[in-house]
Amino acid sequence: MQNIKEYIENHKDRFINELVELLKIPSVSADPAFKNDVLTTAEAVKNSLEKAGCDLVEICETPGYPIVYGEKIIDANLPTVLVYGHYDVQPADPIDLWDSPPFEPVIKKTDLHPEGAIFARGACDDKGQMYMHVKALEYMTATGNLPCNVKFMIEGEEEVGSESLAWFVERNQEKLANDVILISDTGMIANDIPSITTGLRGLSYVEVEVTGPNRDLHSGLYGGAVANPINVLTKMIASLHDENNHITIPGFYDNVEELSTEERAEMAKAPFSLEAYQKALDINAVYGEKGYTTNERNSIRPTLDVNGIWGGYTGEGAKTVIASKAYAKISMRLVPNQDWREITQLFKTHFENIAPAGVTVEVKPHHGGQGYVTPTNYDGYRAASMAYQDTFGKTPIPQRSGGSIPIVALFEKELKSKTILMGFGLDSDAIHSPNEHFGVFNYLKGIETIPLFYKYYTKLKKNN
Ligand code: BES
Ligand code: MN
Ligand code: MN
Repeated sequence: MQNIKEYIENHKDRFINELVELLKIPSVSADPAFKNDVLTTAEAVKNSLEKAGCDLVEICETPGYPIVYGEKIIDANLPTVLVYGHYDVQPADPIDLWDSPPFEPVIKKTDLHPEGAIFARGACDDKGQMYMHVKALEYMTATGNLPCNVKFMIEGEEEVGSESLAWFVERNQEKLANDVILISDTGMIANDIPSITTGLRGLSYVEVEVTGPNRDLHSGLYGGAVANPINVLTKMIASLHDENNHITIPGFYDNVEELSTEERAEMAKAPFSLEAYQKALDINAVYGEKGYTTNERNSIRPTLDVNGIWGGYTGEGAKTVIASKAYAKISMRLVPNQDWREITQLFKTHFENIAPAGVTVEVKPHHGGQGYVTPTNYDGYRAASMAYQDTFGKTPIPQRSGGSIPIVALFEKELKSKTILMGFGLDSDAIHSPNEHFGVFNYLKGIETIPLFYKYYTKLKKNN
């Protein structure tokens, strides 16, 4: 039997080229202009799963973009791993800030990726990480090393809230039956500090609209005499945090799970350099909720951030005007036990309450989702840990992430199984940003580690 290291060595150029081809298709789910490209990407994923050895591959239609489903069932008595990933990507904007075009992948070396990284939208989030699983399957089927059953479910709407996936999962519980769910759509601490993601934050995303006078006004003739929606909106937003950077929405923290001193001490053991963190972002200080460390602020604590704000005149030169309307998009990252619908309602009530006379406020909820924490004391985590131990030569550190994959909590509810988050990206890989990239080392290391997860998971299950 050929070993995985050898297999990768023999096929790595092709593995990289195939990913490059996939990255050329601009599968931006948020923008209807890319509809055909999103659909073409689903076809490409389908073909890749067929080639990798799935016995059955389907493009499953949904009310939105299709889900690519594939499976290889070798023995109904063996465990089944369900792989989830997404083939859609974030919009590439602002395009001007890319050093090379977002859908023309190039490989360049960086400080953190001395072996080179693939630069393209979706390289890390999530085409590159999803494709590691396709190539790991190829290896396992081509060399007779697939120890259990495998199912793939790759969706095309993750970046816009996974609505169709929720629809699909609710209707296909039997088809999707599995023992454990495996996802590579998160990150790790560093290439020499492997980690496994053990938590995701929830999300509530809202848009607010503040309306003042019924039309834009001359800022001289009316200025000072009517409520200016932009002034009002910024003041309202500023009031959402107090001087300790606590969120002021009544009830916001009611269900927040407080970690014990021991748990916080355990978290603090993860390697972290504040200096390197600041340097990587060119900031002279960090900022956040009083009483918590940077790693706590971005993982176990909830947040509220303005993601976009607009209104009035933003063109060239000056225009003296009081806008009729002002807008903002606001995200709240939530922690386990906070219910995203409840938080959205609390926000709406509070925001409407604090609006001064002279304006009206409308709060429009967007998508959201629940947070998730994975246990570390069960077969799935142990198998993942053993796999990393083999390929990195180090025990991976369990680490809760600040990002969100809302569908994970739904998987647990509908499919009754736990999710293992084997992420191989780095925070510095610039996902959702210009110059997104994914290290060649990380890509190949992922392909190397995944089959070992299957091996150990099947072994641990057999011993049970
Ligand atoms: N893959 C990310 C989430 C992620 C990245 C989690 C890194 C942990 C570490 C995913 O594609 C994503 O961007 N999720 C969105 C939420 C979604 C509802 C749009 C997010 O976190 O903003
Ligand atoms: Mn993702
Ligand atoms: Mn994303």
